[in-house]
Amino acid sequence: MTIATDRQYRVEDELLHTVLASFQNTPDPRLKELMQALVRHLHAFIREVRLTETEWQHAIDFLTAAGHITSDRRQEFVLLSDVLGASMQTINVNHEATADATEATVVGPFYVEDSPEVPLGGDMAAGAPGEPCWIEGTVTDTDGTSVPRARLEVWEADEDGLYDVQYDDGHTAGRAHLYTDDNGRYAFWGLTPTPYPIPHDGPVGRLLENTARSPLRASHLHFKATAPSLRTLITHIFVEGDELLGSDAVFGVKHSLVERFERQPAGTPTPDGRDLTGQTWTRVHFDIVLAPQPSAQRSA
Ligand code: BEZ
Ligand code: FE
Repeated sequence: MTIATDRQYRVEDELLHTVLASFQNTPDPRLKELMQALVRHLHAFIREVRLTETEWQHAIDFLTAAGHITSDRRQEFVLLSDVLGASMQTINVNHEATADATEATVVGPFYVEDSPEVPLGGDMAAGAPGEPCWIEGTVTDTDGTSVPRARLEVWEADEDGLYDVQYDDGHTAGRAHLYTDDNGRYAFWGLTPTPYPIPHDGPVGRLLENTARSPLRASHLHFKATAPSLRTLITHIFVEGDELLGSDAVFGVKHSLVERFERQPAGTPTPDGRDLTGQTWTRVHFDIVLAPQPSAQRSA
């Protein structure tokens, strides 16, 4: 790395201050704060690593490739944010520990609005291949009061590591929504989560490869929980003992979200009498605690 001389330092600093000043008259104070901080950090990065023009062109080519692969069905920029930990850091900043509320994690690219409704005890797997899993728990607020009629949206990959939307046939499986009962309880059948790679056939995949990182996500099942006057929660449950817990490609694992999935030998009676003759199945308990709605969200 070249050591900048005093004169060189002054040239670089002058440019930084000229660019900062160009945002001085931004009418929206928040936009002004964001743009000036972005410029400060970007210039600090360029100066710290003494960025070469070839490297800068590589970065432009990378972003161009990310743009080209992005479509209605593929969002490479969100994926980039995920693998850089920017998505999780934004979640952390916005969910400062609210007394005992369930922690949030990344939404990921496979959430779909308007999933089919299943009744309590229903099967959201809907034919997706994998080991059946009975998932049950409660939804409460941070005072411990149960939340009846909370809406739970759940989605997960099948045992081949694919979400329904990654197949070309348009079928829906491994996703559903349901509502808690009068006592805030819920239960449904899904699949025991298994690990799968994030989409890695594009520029983000090449970045992971060039940096000796794995595209694998720790096994998980997604939840989105909504209820009036309470903060919407997007989270996962992770599987205790999964060896990928410490190396999740998108840094989504929170210790508090790791749950024990108890494997039941074939022939073990199921909670609702479902006939699973000859098959092992698992069960997991996951209680969800929703924080109060922040005031800005309340008035929106
Ligand atoms: C997911 O869990 O579905 C996911 C999250 C971030 C990036 C890719 C996939
Ligand atoms: Fe996922």
